[in-house]
Amino acid sequence: MLSNFPVEGQQSYDDTTFPFVINGANHPEAVGRFGEWVSEYRDELLDLMTKHGAVLLRGFPVDGIPDFDTCVTALGLENFPYKKSLSNAVRVNKTERVFTANEAPSTAQILFHHEMAQTPLFPEHIMFYCEKPADAGGATPICRSDVLYDRLKAECPEFLQKCEDAGLKYTNVMPSDNDAQSGLGRSWRSTLGVETKEEAEGRLRDLGYSWEWQEDGCLKATTPQLPAVMEISPGRSTFFNQIIAAYCGWKDERNDPSKAIRHGDETPLDAAAVLRCAEIAEEIAFDVPWQAGDIALIDNRIAMHARRPFKGSRKVLASLGTMRRQSFVSS
Ligand code: FE2
Repeated sequence: MLSNFPVEGQQSYDDTTFPFVINGANHPEAVGRFGEWVSEYRDELLDLMTKHGAVLLRGFPVDGIPDFDTCVTALGLENFPYKKSLSNAVRVNKTERVFTANEAPSTAQILFHHEMAQTPLFPEHIMFYCEKPADAGGATPICRSDVLYDRLKAECPEFLQKCEDAGLKYTNVMPSDNDAQSGLGRSWRSTLGVETKEEAEGRLRDLGYSWEWQEDGCLKATTPQLPAVMEISPGRSTFFNQIIAAYCGWKDERNDPSKAIRHGDETPLDAAAVLRCAEIAEEIAFDVPWQAGDIALIDNRIAMHARRPFKGSRKVLASLGTMRRQSFVSS
């Protein structure tokens, strides 16, 4: 059985530890056969991801992108390729399964989010690998979204109820060509995997979006009503949405964050409550202090992630697994 290695700042909730850390120094049997080691512990690793929210593998023989690819392949998850995702981020594929985490500039703070919670299709698993930490900054903060949900239930019950009852709609303006200067600069052609406006409209129709073309060739798209909360198991729900990132951070020369998100019944969000969500997420954040060779395995339904600004070059790669579909069901 895999055991936790205590690290500074690690959090405890009931019988869970966040993040659960596995120290490679305790597993010399993984040397020279890391992929086989991951395969052997696959079921346990996946259970640990869901139970604790995130698992950090540190001190294992991981040296470069091929080793990370071996790890995610050994986990045996269905690949969720970037080109099929509706992510807004500009990324570059390094292997079929591995891509750069986000090409946004180092000074940009990426706020807490569940990967692709603002689209009908999202990955259940997200894996990160640090090839090279930044010279300064550049941690990946993670936070337990079930803990956030419980805190909001105590502190902002009306807002939480409204989120559950009405769901959310997101609006995003996509450029016609990739804009790597923006954290949400992925073009509509790339996002939707199409070449022409007609194909784009067909894909949007299939996904239940509404849309508007702008004079400069940008595409303004609004999602169907999506849920704001996910029930993981009886009594365990997460604040599975993109409220913090969209409301506070979807800002570039095309996007105005105050127009990026509203409730599914078209009413605006309570600004004070949204601010409180962001504050609580920050209060319960654990900053993954990257070391070269670290791998973080995250259950994207349970934990949110973000990115701190950094100095120097930083190489953090990502991989997504297990595509899931979400749709709003009124209660
Ligand atoms: Fe992300």
